[in-house]
Amino acid sequence: MAQNKDELLKQRILSVVDDVSADWIKEKFEEYSRLMTYYRCAMMEIETKFNVLNEEYSLAYDRNPISSIKTRLKSFPSISEKLVRKGVDNSIESIERNLNDIAGVRVICSFPEDVYELAKALLKQDDIMLIEEKDYIKNPKPNGYRSLHMIVGIPIFLAHEKRIMKVEIQLRTIAMDFWASLEHQLRYKKDTTFTKEMANELYECAEISAMLDDKMDTLQKKVLSDNN
Ligand code: GTP
Ligand code: MG
Repeated sequence: MAQNKDELLKQRILSVVDDVSADWIKEKFEEYSRLMTYYRCAMMEIETKFNVLNEEYSLAYDRNPISSIKTRLKSFPSISEKLVRKGVDNSIESIERNLNDIAGVRVICSFPEDVYELAKALLKQDDIMLIEEKDYIKNPKPNGYRSLHMIVGIPIFLAHEKRIMKVEIQLRTIAMDFWASLEHQLRYKKDTTFTKEMANELYECAEISAMLDDKMDTLQKKVLSDNN
């Protein structure tokens, strides 16, 4: 079974490596495959930690701060392209050293307040190390993009060793996620031009989504205070 999965993965990788002329990976396939497994394990650990926090909130406050969690492992073509873009070596060691977003966990929350509560609760855990944080909610990107980004280090425990792996976590509300997904779709639509006017309109949509988040946050607080 595991053998089969490995073989399938190998075929898939080998079917794209010629496109990106990355011969080095053919020799290093086993090492690459092992590293990806480690990242997948780290992603699972982070996802579980968020699920545990969600359960705890559900018990304590009778509500779920997490609407959904998505995980993704960066594909080999994207990894290869990013190594070239960053001007760093093509090697397994270089992937681990230079790329922070091989393992990605996106946590979609109900309210903006939940984003910060969950981030705080995760960072308090003594096996989590914060490597980098970018708060695009307090400081949105010029195009209007909002989310809280963190790169964390988390240990995974293997049969004979403990390894610290990096995971990129993006925390955002449903409204922020809605905007980001549509923006991504529009911006990367094939054979179309993205004009300044379109960018302005998208920015306006981001402002409306931020307003919606504020309104929902206020409403939530009102509901809670009126019923306590
Ligand atoms: P990358 O090299 O692209 O990973 O950028 P970075 O290292 O500067 O990281 P940053 O934290 O700015 O962004 C990382 C990820 O956040 C991206 O891969 C996207 O998933 C998401 N992201 C950042 N900016 C935008 C944006 O303007 N629109 C959308 N839809 N997603 C974004
Ligand atoms: Mg990225």
